[in-house]
Amino acid sequence: MNSITNTIEVIKTSASKINDVDFDNLKFGSVFSDHMLVCNYKNGIWEVPKVLPYQNISLDPSAKIFHYGQSVFEGMKAYKDTNDDVWLFRPLDNFKRLNISSKRLAIPELPEAYFMEGLKTLLKVDSDWIPKNAGSSLYIRPFVFASGNGFHASPADEYKFIIATAPSGSYFSGKVKVLIEQTYSRSANGGVGYAKAGGNYAGQFYPTQLAIEKGYQQVVWTDDNTHEYIEEAGAMNIFVRINDTLITAPTSDRILDGITRKSIIELAQSEGIPIEVRKLSVHEVVEAAENGALKEMFGAGTAAVVSPISGFGYNGTDYVLPVLDDTYASYLKKRITDIQTNKTEDPFDWRYKVD
Ligand code: PLP
Ligand code: COI
Repeated sequence: MNSITNTIEVIKTSASKINDVDFDNLKFGSVFSDHMLVCNYKNGIWEVPKVLPYQNISLDPSAKIFHYGQSVFEGMKAYKDTNDDVWLFRPLDNFKRLNISSKRLAIPELPEAYFMEGLKTLLKVDSDWIPKNAGSSLYIRPFVFASGNGFHASPADEYKFIIATAPSGSYFSGKVKVLIEQTYSRSANGGVGYAKAGGNYAGQFYPTQLAIEKGYQQVVWTDDNTHEYIEEAGAMNIFVRINDTLITAPTSDRILDGITRKSIIELAQSEGIPIEVRKLSVHEVVEAAENGALKEMFGAGTAAVVSPISGFGYNGTDYVLPVLDDTYASYLKKRITDIQTNKTEDPFDWRYKVD
């Protein structure tokens, strides 16, 4: 792989916003660091990325992103340890998944060096923006969209790859109550559910709004064909603990192949927590809730980390999960965040030093 780091132009802001930020009270993804990485695709090639001051983007009203939603994104985090060293978690997996998503949306794939070296250059420029407080991190949002013009419903000829970052606290403020969906679908066989396509999220907003009006925070999607099997939630994969066994749905072309999900599966396997990757019916979960075998449910994702679920709604009934002293969720959350923030050994080689 040819290195491009020395050719990445860096134009720094003359007016840093960092002193306006209250790092002790960070919300999720609502204040943005001083710089962003911008990389343009024109005339059939990706141009070398640049680091620029964070700024608005100007687009023609006919840009295809506005009409046909040709856009994909990733979610990652950077962590700073007590020595001020900066770490990423499995970043190559995000790079690979971005290209998997791009391919499905007929977006040209990015060279690895543009993503990895571009990201590292940006993080070095904005390293003061990486929070050190426990539970906070620098949320990283790489995204690619069709900036080329024209109303013709076909792939654009120009694209932009941008990385913006936001010092962030937790995604959910407390335990999450979920609604198991029986009407709407997030994805279908042969569709784009496995891609991190912007449109997948737009399509979830309306059913999620309906769930929020009923007092839930997230929808748990079921398979589009029968609505009988648990798939994933709006922004995270789902794990269910029945007795002592952790269960999560297998990935498919309808489900995002979450990096947190696969890390939790590996952690559980290596630490002797019984784990099954298999189809899980709503019926099985309801029955377990009714006979006391349902111990925990939690979501797993980059933004959500490991988010315990307090209860779920299904068929007009609310099921409340027990409050346990020792949960798999809290154990696995600690294990994974300790690895991410360099507080512990990393036997899996997941941590990636930004130097
Ligand atoms: N499922 C969906 C729909 C998501 O948006 C996310 C978040 O990225 C996840 C699962 C979890 O994926 P990851 O752990 O790679 O962040
Ligand atoms: C992430 O966890 O990084 C995601 O992309 C979820 C997002 C929709 C907030």
